[in-house]
Amino acid sequence: MTTQEFLGKKEFTINNQMVSESCPSNIALIKYWGKYDNQIPANPSISYTLNHCKTNTVMEFLADENFSVQTFLAGNEEVKFAEKIEKYFKNIEQYLPWILKGRYIIKTENTFPHSSGIASSASGFGAIAKCLIKLDEVFSGELSEQEALRKASFLARLGSGSACRSLYNGLVVWGESQIKGSSDLFAVKYPDDEIHEIFKNFNDWVLLIHEGQKSVSSTVGHGLMNTNPYAERRFQEARENFEPMKKILKTGDIQGFIKLVEHEALTLHAMMMMSDPAFILMKTGTLEVINKIWNFRNETALPLFFTLDAGANVHLLFPNDGNEEKIKSFIETDLLQHTQKNGVVKDVMKF
Ligand code: PMV
Repeated sequence: MTTQEFLGKKEFTINNQMVSESCPSNIALIKYWGKYDNQIPANPSISYTLNHCKTNTVMEFLADENFSVQTFLAGNEEVKFAEKIEKYFKNIEQYLPWILKGRYIIKTENTFPHSSGIASSASGFGAIAKCLIKLDEVFSGELSEQEALRKASFLARLGSGSACRSLYNGLVVWGESQIKGSSDLFAVKYPDDEIHEIFKNFNDWVLLIHEGQKSVSSTVGHGLMNTNPYAERRFQEARENFEPMKKILKTGDIQGFIKLVEHEALTLHAMMMMSDPAFILMKTGTLEVINKIWNFRNETALPLFFTLDAGANVHLLFPNDGNEEKIKSFIETDLLQHTQKNGVVKDVMKF
C-alpha cells in the first residue's frame, strides 16, 4: 500500500458548504511512542475507541475566498489551533487538491474536560478529517464507505498519529503487524471474530490526578525516542507484544490482558524517564492509585487495572462482567481521593 492511492482527483467543483462530524477519542493498549518522517510509526499500536469522549466539529467552507482558517473551541477563538490547522491543510493539499481554495471557520467542542489529558488531538483531528472527506465527496465525487474511512484515517494520521485509530469503533490497529490489512499509513479495525466477548464491553474511567498542561507534548516525546538508547528494543518489544495480545483477545485471557496492558503503560513512562532530558510524568497520586489497584487485585482477585497516556492521569480499566459494582464502589471510596477535584470521566467501550 502506498500514499499514491490517497492522491486527490484533479477535477473538482467547489461551492460554499457547511459540514459537521463527530469523532471519539481512543486509548492505546500497545502504545505508539516514537515515529519517523511523515508520521510513520516506529511500531504498531492497538487501541480501544471510547464511546462518550468525543469532539463535535462544524466546518464552514467559503469557496473562492483567500485561504485562511479560523477556529473556535467551545465558543472561544483559538488562534494557535488555527495556525496548526493551516499548516496541516497545506501539508495535505496533494490528497485534497481543492483544500486551499477557500476560507474556513471551524467550531469544535469536546464532550470531556479540556484539562483531562484525554486525547483531544485524536478526536479533534479525527473529526476534522471526517469533515474534509465529506467536503471531498461533495467536490470530487463519492467514495465507497471503506475508501472514505480509510482516507479519513490516512488524513487524520497526518494531523496527529494516534488520531487515525479514532475513525473506527472497538479495537483498532495502526502500523504494520501480523494483523490482516494493517498499515503504517492508516488504521484498521481489529477483526471482530478474533475478539472474545469479555473485551467487547469494557469500562475506561479516567481519574483526573492532575489537571492542566502536560509537561511534555507528544511531539517532544516522540522526538526523545530518536536519541533514547533503549528505543530500538522498545519498538521490537511492541511488535512482539502483538503475538500474546492476539491470543489474549481470542481466548478472553483477562489475566494476560492485565499484565500486558499495565506493562505497556509502565514501559511508556520508563522510556520517558530514560530520555535525555528525562521526564517523570506521573504524580504522587498516580503512584498511590497504582499501588492501591495492585493491593485491591491481590486481595479480591477482581479485574481492575490501569493504563496511562503521556501524563499523570490514570485510565482505570475493568470489564462489565458482573463484578463491576464492587470495583466501582472501590474507585469511589479509595481512589477518587487522589484526584484534584474528585475528577473522573466515566467512559465505556461497547461494540
Ligand atoms: O498521536 P500523538 O502524536 O499525540 O501520540 C500519542 C501517543 C500516546 O498517546 C502516548 C500513545 C498512543 O498510542 O496513543
